Amino acid sequence: MALAYRILERKRAGMRLTAEEIRAVAQGAADGSWSEGQLGAFLMAAAIRGLDADETRALTLAMLESGERWDLGREVPGLCDKHSTGGVGDKVSLILAPLLASCGVPVAMLTGRSLGHTGGTMDKLESIPGMSLDLDRARCLDLLARCGMAIGGATAEIAPADRRLYALRDTTATVDSTPLITASILSKKLATGAAAVVFDVKTGNGAFLPELDRSLELARGLVETARSLGTPTSALVTDMSQPLGRWSGHTAEVMETFACLGGEGPEDLMEVTFALGEEVSRLAGQPVGRRQMEEALSSGRARERCEQWAALQGADLDWLRQPRFPLAPVEKPLLARRPGRLAAVDVRQLGLLLVEAGGGRTRPEDAIDFGVSLECRARLGQEVREGAELARVYLRREDDRLAELFAGCFTVADEGEAPVVIAARVS
Ligand code: URA
Repeated sequence: MALAYRILERKRAGMRLTAEEIRAVAQGAADGSWSEGQLGAFLMAAAIRGLDADETRALTLAMLESGERWDLGREVPGLCDKHSTGGVGDKVSLILAPLLASCGVPVAMLTGRSLGHTGGTMDKLESIPGMSLDLDRARCLDLLARCGMAIGGATAEIAPADRRLYALRDTTATVDSTPLITASILSKKLATGAAAVVFDVKTGNGAFLPELDRSLELARGLVETARSLGTPTSALVTDMSQPLGRWSGHTAEVMETFACLGGEGPEDLMEVTFALGEEVSRLAGQPVGRRQMEEALSSGRARERCEQWAALQGADLDWLRQPRFPLAPVEKPLLARRPGRLAAVDVRQLGLLLVEAGGGRTRPEDAIDFGVSLECRARLGQEVREGAELARVYLRREDDRLAELFAGCFTVADEGEAPVVIAARVS
């Protein structure tokens, strides 16, 4: 009987697979010797029966080994990396990398694209004219030597097994299996070989896994698995029950990043950024405290570092320094229909509406309108009067129906509370 058949039969029966069997799955995904039917069957059996810690570790390692490993940490001691499970308005990577680099802590990140309701760092950066995110190992090391940071797009050579499995998960209803998510994320994240990684696992209605217990489960899986593979790691579970910071949308988030680097970032966004910076720099053995980061912002060093880096990766500095960023021209204020407190924000729906307005993509090949944006002017728990501007959308063209749908994402009620920004730390 063929090996693939036996592996599928064993997992279907709820048996524990050996590391060798799991390697056969990853190899079969990467070299094409397993059919889509077989891979789909493996994903479904794994999603239903689960994978224990050893199996998750083995799958992560096998997917990691299916592609290139850059091992950058060997040449750049203390190299840091950060990963977010994604959300709306999450531009923390853009702020954190230059901030840490300006404090002497090297950072390299390979980032992903916007998809569905969540934005991707790669597209946000590509909204800057000239920016090139096409990095290989040598270019990454060169950037680290010159400015202490590098941000690129995940390449096809990294974790090819995940590329095939991930694409199949969407159509096989196996997206939200925690061990599959853990192995998928880590197989790409650990490929650069950073000395330490911190995870920002989002929780709340705009998160990939909205319930807190699922977010915690994923955070634990990521931390335990990465650590068992030799990378010091911790995770913060942070709020995504409202967009992070004031702005969402590609150009708008670049604009807000520069406001943050100039010391004018909104409180929630900076709290998450500082906390992740403290975590990862400590794990990498070069602890940087909040005061030091604040000083890097107020002195202008962090912003300068960002400009230096951006220019090295091809960005048009005149565009970055312009007084007014090109947001979409049709501004629609979203008003409170009654007095009270902002009680709920449907973040997932806001993300989907941004996509519908052209500011995101539903298929990998879709083009993005970088100027489409959302500006949140009220925060959860805030008291508002009737007619107060809760938010403002910036659309490419007049669309009252869409503006109405955006407005429907904000609920004002008698009671409303500010969420806890950092719900948990997992280490
Ligand atoms: N991001 C990934 O890279 N993989 C997943 O499975 C989920 C989110």
